[in-house]
Amino acid sequence: MKDKESTYRTLAAQVKALCAGEDYPVSVMANVAAAIYEATGAWWAGFYVWRGDALRLGPFQGPVACTRIEAGRGVCGTAYAKRQTIVVPDVEQFPGHIACSSRSRSEIVVPIFDNDGSVKAVLDLDSDRLAAFDDTDARHLEHIAALIAPHI
Ligand code: SME
Repeated sequence: MKDKESTYRTLAAQVKALCAGEDYPVSVMANVAAAIYEATGAWWAGFYVWRGDALRLGPFQGPVACTRIEAGRGVCGTAYAKRQTIVVPDVEQFPGHIACSSRSRSEIVVPIFDNDGSVKAVLDLDSDRLAAFDDTDARHLEHIAALIAPHI
């Protein structure tokens, strides 16, 4: 990605348009995963949705992934449990990282909040490059998470 700020500005506008009038969560998550994947060049981009006892694999783009992640496990379960964005510059240095693809080198996971403040899903991006994600990605992906939250 050449210029993250402008890429994310365009992406946010696209996400708003994709969400407008949509109330079926799968459609929204599917299109937003595709838009993020295309715009960012991520190796994997998608959602895990909280289903009562664990995060379950939702719509995504990229290689097949694990279907179930418990709270506190891996990067996704840690972002869920801590209720905060986790940026992992090198997945091999993250204790408990769940390796769905051996080509994943860095990762960012952003929680998506329900009206009552609970985490209802997480947005996960993986890169095949080390340290692909930083505070700029975190800020913009949190904005995107807030945009889609009412639609999923
Ligand atoms: N690496 C994640 C698992 C999901 S995949 O990256 C798609 C984790 O540690 O939670």
